[in-house]
Amino acid sequence: MLHIIDHPLVQHKISLLRDKTTGTKEFRELVSEIAMFICYEATRDLPLKEIEIETPVAVAKTKIISGRKLAFVPILRAGLGMVDGVTKLVPAAKIGHIGLFRDPETKESVKYYFKLPEDIAERDTIIVDPMLATGNSAIAAIDELKKLGVKQIKFMCIICSPEGVEAVTKAHPDVEIYAGVQDEGLNEDKYIVPGVGDAGDRIFGTK
Ligand code: URA
Repeated sequence: MLHIIDHPLVQHKISLLRDKTTGTKEFRELVSEIAMFICYEATRDLPLKEIEIETPVAVAKTKIISGRKLAFVPILRAGLGMVDGVTKLVPAAKIGHIGLFRDPETKESVKYYFKLPEDIAERDTIIVDPMLATGNSAIAAIDELKKLGVKQIKFMCIICSPEGVEAVTKAHPDVEIYAGVQDEGLNEDKYIVPGVGDAGDRIFGTK
């Protein structure tokens, strides 16, 4: 299922992100801020339990997050740009890394790095990658997490394509997708149109 986070602040910041004159510093800051807002919605269903806390005035019956702990898994390298934002909201979360690159010929995902928390199977996991384009990397990352026994997986991105959403939903109907916006589609190079260009290059200033 696709959730679009249509909050005005998210939409405004995505517009700034799209602008080709937005430089590396601002682009990186925007990715982090947007990730934080989308994470706020992606964690809306975290279970709560009631506890008692003594305030200076009285005992309050109040709520804290309970249940399974969280892990964020950025897909390298562009996903790294979202880690700062999501860990601002959930500082205790552990971070795993999955390195996948897109074979320029076949456009298929090739795994080159894989390091996850030892207890990943006991954690609810949110994969982060700014662009959901063909869906190949997302599907490969979800496949790997499921092989390790992870039961609840969400996928968070900033911009998705209809093709990517369809591919992920078909391969993994149980995975909820959280995005800031869904764009028109993919071009012949499998870039999202209108998109932001290469998110990794823009976050890290490599082009
Ligand atoms: N990856 C990107 O960085 N941008 C796209 O448009 C598609 C995939």
